[in-house]
Amino acid sequence: MATISTKDYLLDQAKRRFTPSFNNFPGMGALERKLLRTDFPQKVLAEPPAGSGLKPVMGDSGLPVLGHLVEMFRGGPEYLMHIYKTKGPIYYADSPALPAVAALGPDAAQAIYGNRNKDFSQEGWIPVIGPFFHRGLMLLDFEEHMFHRRIMQEAFVRTRLVGYTEQVDTVASKVVANDWVANDPRFLLYPAMKQMTLDIASMVFMGHEPGTDHELVTKVNNAFTTVVRAGNAIIRTGVPPFTWWRGLQARKVLEDYFAERVEERRGAEGSDLLTVLCQTEDEDGNKFSNEDIVNHMIFTMMAAHDTSTSTATTMSYFLAANPEWQERCRDESDRLGDGPVDVESLEKLESLDLVMNESMRLVTPVQWAMRRAVRDTELLGYHIPKGTNVIAYPGLNHRLPEFWTDPMTFDPERFAEPRNEHKQHRFAFTPFGGGSHKCIGMMFGQLEVKVIMHRLLRKYRLELAHPGREQTWDYGGMPVPMDGMPIVLRPLR
Ligand code: HEM
Repeated sequence: MATISTKDYLLDQAKRRFTPSFNNFPGMGALERKLLRTDFPQKVLAEPPAGSGLKPVMGDSGLPVLGHLVEMFRGGPEYLMHIYKTKGPIYYADSPALPAVAALGPDAAQAIYGNRNKDFSQEGWIPVIGPFFHRGLMLLDFEEHMFHRRIMQEAFVRTRLVGYTEQVDTVASKVVANDWVANDPRFLLYPAMKQMTLDIASMVFMGHEPGTDHELVTKVNNAFTTVVRAGNAIIRTGVPPFTWWRGLQARKVLEDYFAERVEERRGAEGSDLLTVLCQTEDEDGNKFSNEDIVNHMIFTMMAAHDTSTSTATTMSYFLAANPEWQERCRDESDRLGDGPVDVESLEKLESLDLVMNESMRLVTPVQWAMRRAVRDTELLGYHIPKGTNVIAYPGLNHRLPEFWTDPMTFDPERFAEPRNEHKQHRFAFTPFGGGSHKCIGMMFGQLEVKVIMHRLLRKYRLELAHPGREQTWDYGGMPVPMDGMPIVLRPLR
């Protein structure tokens, strides 16, 4: 059985406490409270055209240089709730880092995701992740996006999911049983889950059998982790030794790795995503070029990795905090037993579906949908000039009291008959986005998380290491538990 080294544990704790961030720097809490009480001078984004009947978008610049980063990184959806209540659904936050209009509430989300007149482009994502995820599917627009999406869709049809699920199960069963540490309150679930989803990706996406190609897999995984982290860099410049620069170097490592593997996998047999992307074509016989595959692989790994890590970590937390739900989910898992799982058997884990929805509602992995107006347009009666960044916030919409009873309470039944709270508005619940860019890996992601949770629930009872302590999240990128999420795994047998 694996154990935890005291030295590594203490180093990790020190790093968590002393790496400066908006969330742990002394005085940041007081600054945040002060900023929330401050009435910054109001400004108009742009005057609407005469006679248009449109309203101007109002806003402010927040602090010099930082804009509203402090409130956003610390409060996340709570800060947006404050904006929604005090300023309304459309508000301009100017800042040198990312000037943008916040489009709050499900009506605004519908206009942006639905994108009826193709007014909003995915270019809104470029300032955040553009250099690292160049020409990933989510960064393509309109006809070109549809062309690529049609080909990629073939890699996510049900028959392909059957193969991926089998591979996920191979890795998850092994890691949960052999690598995770039982009966130790120092065990941090979040980094362990992150490592496991990376191990899963190495097999399912790149075809590396667990335990093989160790050096290469480690190099690729490290490069991948660096690229993902770079998107959250505060100093956003390609100058050594900053995080942004390291991200660009790591992107090169990934490009070289995938370029070589594509050559190797063209025409080869295999059920991993890379080999599948080398083979897939749409009904008209269109295929991806080598360069397309490299770009799609790098983006897809990112899109799959932190999102499923976040979802499985949050679910584990809520199950540990709500033992009655843990028992209910375990009962269903016990009925499946320890045999191999497949797409059909996983469908029987219905309570786990409710818990997954409720966990993604309360801690939404992708908090934002970033877009940019390609022409002058309107949004809920407000004038939006060409070139404006516009951001919809599912993370806020998932907490609006007009749709959700007692929104901050963990209550998975709200997603079941007869309550169906999520069905009151088509865009009230959008953890996987909506419209033409809706998550292409939604089914796969749900299956992956269910396999992980099923294996975990069969093997351990989950207990909070510090019951009663308030769980806090860093909202700088995807929500990350600030303490690494200590959970005690009590072996059941
Ligand atoms: C629980 C897990 C996941 C969540 C919460 C999630 C969430 C999302 C969201 C919100 C979007 C839309 C972003 C936007 O509108 O700008 C998206 C897009 C995307 N996701 Fe996921 N995702 C998850 C898992 C996955 C997995 C497992 C994969 C791949 C295997 C994946 C691949 C993608 C891709 C390629 C896109 C871009 C789609 C397009 O632009 O057409 N995701 N995801």
